[in-house]
Amino acid sequence: MSEHANRESVMLKPEDNELLCRVGSGTPMGELFRRFWVPALILSEIAEPDCDPVRLRLLGEDLIAFRDSDGRIGVLEERCPHRRASLYFGRNEECGLRCVYHGWKFDVDGNCVDMPNERPETDFKHKVQIKSYAAAEWSGYIWVYMGPADRKPPLPKFEWATLPPTHVWQRKWHYSANWMQGLEGELDTCHTTFLHGGIDPATLSPGLTESTSNWAKDGMPELDVRDAEHGYYYGSKRDLGDGMYNWRLTQWVLPSNSIIPHAKFPISSRAYVPIDDENTFVFGTSFNPEAPMTQEERDYLETGMGAAPKLIPGTFTPEVNKTNDYKRDRALQRSGHATGIPGVNNQDRAIVEAMGSIADRENEHLGTSDIAVIAARRKLIKLAIELADGKEPDLPHNPVAFNVRPIDVTVKQNRLDDVVSCFSDKLRFAAE
Ligand code: FES
Ligand SMILES: [Fe+2]
Repeated sequence: MSEHANRESVMLKPEDNELLCRVGSGTPMGELFRRFWVPALILSEIAEPDCDPVRLRLLGEDLIAFRDSDGRIGVLEERCPHRRASLYFGRNEECGLRCVYHGWKFDVDGNCVDMPNERPETDFKHKVQIKSYAAAEWSGYIWVYMGPADRKPPLPKFEWATLPPTHVWQRKWHYSANWMQGLEGELDTCHTTFLHGGIDPATLSPGLTESTSNWAKDGMPELDVRDAEHGYYYGSKRDLGDGMYNWRLTQWVLPSNSIIPHAKFPISSRAYVPIDDENTFVFGTSFNPEAPMTQEERDYLETGMGAAPKLIPGTFTPEVNKTNDYKRDRALQRSGHATGIPGVNNQDRAIVEAMGSIADRENEHLGTSDIAVIAARRKLIKLAIELADGKEPDLPHNPVAFNVRPIDVTVKQNRLDDVVSCFSDKLRFAAE
């Protein structure tokens, strides 16, 4: 195959890029997302019964979330079905959210339970509903399901979701770009050698210190992708010399979850949840599956130098962001730090956001180091087209299939299959 023909086979045509990235209601990828529960809020956003309602934009839809007097979670279309006033201004009272314009009131299931501006004999309130979505509190997040009611799946049993809070650290933050760009960064272990190079180990956790040391030793890792019910996993092999190989087996879980290993716990899992086509909320969960996380590990994550950014207080906006040029320091960069940008996650986000809100994938030149990115695109497009043709995805209805773990090990094994068979208990494929 010529170089040109090879490029033709992997480049993404603009129409495929649109199909891949756009997630509004009625789009093929948007419908695929709507077959999964997605994390949408952290618990503190609607912590108490009768709390303030909050705006929630999800998959391009403007919604309002609240917790009613009985503690039930409501996720309603933002605009009142009467004359489209925003329920953000509504009063959350006595088991329902009341529109302040003319007083219509809705319960968490979208029923109109009061219509004080219409005479009872019209019975109008029983003829009106507001769009509502299923919501559930699970594993430190509030999850929302926006698909057909008769296809509502069980909640996904990610390993971290089944752990006690002592084993988990969580953060939500804003990404100013399409969700797929963020996800692709997670499925691209090769960049770690370059983008995250030259970092002062004093600013890294023990796991990242060991991982960055391995990444620095081999910038041409061999990648091997294996399709799986949950999405795929891929192994990257770095030659450390003396007959030893560092293998990172990263899990991609449909539609937009990465589970990333480090040489030591904690593991980093991130869900890239589309706010709309050009904005994303990341729900980052760092976890130790085998022991409570230490205070030192939690303190490190709070610094914003590792797997998650530090936030501007009271917001989900990272302190290091495009408005301050990601605090990049050219002098630091000249001294050997790859980017001059502080913090591993900030480095990732700077690159991904600066690609533009939806990256132009037609003009990429993908190589062998990009095979995991290519495989994820292909699988997502395939599943979205199949769904549009009436074939439902299987994964949402098999919640234990989400329960996979990545590994980062340095071993003598030279082949992915040998590593998998050696560590199959850790990878937890048996649950599938
Ligand atoms: S617009 Fe909401 S009650 Fe009239
Ligand atoms: Fe990265």
